[in-house]
Amino acid sequence: MGVTKDFFMMLSQNKLLNNGAKHWGLKLGAQSVVAGTNIEEMIKSVKELNAQGMSATIDNLGEFVFEKQEALEAKEQILDVIQAIHEQGLDAHISLKPTQLGLDISYEFCRGNLEEIVSKAEKYKIFINFDMEDYSHLHLSFDLIDELSKHYTNIGTVIQAYFHESAETIKAYKNYRLRIVKGAYKEPEHLAYQDKKDIDRHFIELIEYHLLNGKFTSIATHDHHVIHHVKRFVKTHQIPNDKFEFQMLYGFRKDLQQQLVKEGFNFCTYVPFGADWYGYFMRRLAERPQNLNLFAKQVFNK
Ligand code: FDA
Repeated sequence: MGVTKDFFMMLSQNKLLNNGAKHWGLKLGAQSVVAGTNIEEMIKSVKELNAQGMSATIDNLGEFVFEKQEALEAKEQILDVIQAIHEQGLDAHISLKPTQLGLDISYEFCRGNLEEIVSKAEKYKIFINFDMEDYSHLHLSFDLIDELSKHYTNIGTVIQAYFHESAETIKAYKNYRLRIVKGAYKEPEHLAYQDKKDIDRHFIELIEYHLLNGKFTSIATHDHHVIHHVKRFVKTHQIPNDKFEFQMLYGFRKDLQQQLVKEGFNFCTYVPFGADWYGYFMRRLAERPQNLNLFAKQVFNK
């Protein structure tokens, strides 16, 4: 991992800045990749995406919460988003992070919060995706999914290709709707591939496995090489369009997003919103420091 990547990754995990930024409003160009700070602004963005033929997975920003009150507020906010999806008839589902709902406070507390969310969503036939965070939360998150899946069917999750063990994990979760990603956190060599070539190769292998054997596959990437490969693969193997979708983050590669819709593929945009945008935003800069140019332009064009 290069110096710039390390620097932004370090900034993303700085608690003081994470907390401070909640009071700044959307700054530093974050407004181009975060769909507003409240539900009303987010709904407007989702309606615009729906009108362009894209569905949305909505993320109420926030993670690594250590205060019960904060986790409860996040739960209420997500319940409100579910209500809004239902009432407004949005083509959308939810993405959430277990550490926002209190996984670092207590497993049982988090499970209770998640169960309220999943059961309300199931009532409205809304899908809940459990985002995957860093390795220290990986197995606990899968435990939560296993437990809740005994009672609810509207749950899916994410497989991070940089982990060596994800080749096995994907087999165990092949009956789930899965989003497959490269992986966004800094992880040590004994757990995760470090070399881009290895991560890309494993990413393709996992996507192909789930397309052939799994339930539904969300291919989440901005990498046009991977997207081209998948397009050829589904054609060769006659995998119908209703078995998979492409996903990208809000505000990234909009031309490519629209192109995929035009070509007739299902497309879902990951729509983050809320005051707690800082960690998410810094991870995007760590992934692709060139994004800094893009965001700088937005700041100075104001
Ligand atoms: P990557 O950043 O490796 O770029 C590959 C190539 O694509 C670049 O060299 C360039 O050519 C091109 N490219 C990429 N971005 C571009 C841009 N903006 N403009 C022009 N060209 C560009 N992670 C995680 O750990 N847990 C999770 O739950 C999720 N969830 C998630 C949802 C969605 C919808 C997405 C898109 C991503 C995630 N991620 C994630 C993040 C993921 O793990 C990964 O860190 C980022 O997607 C970056 O990897 P990419 O595959 O996009 O390409």
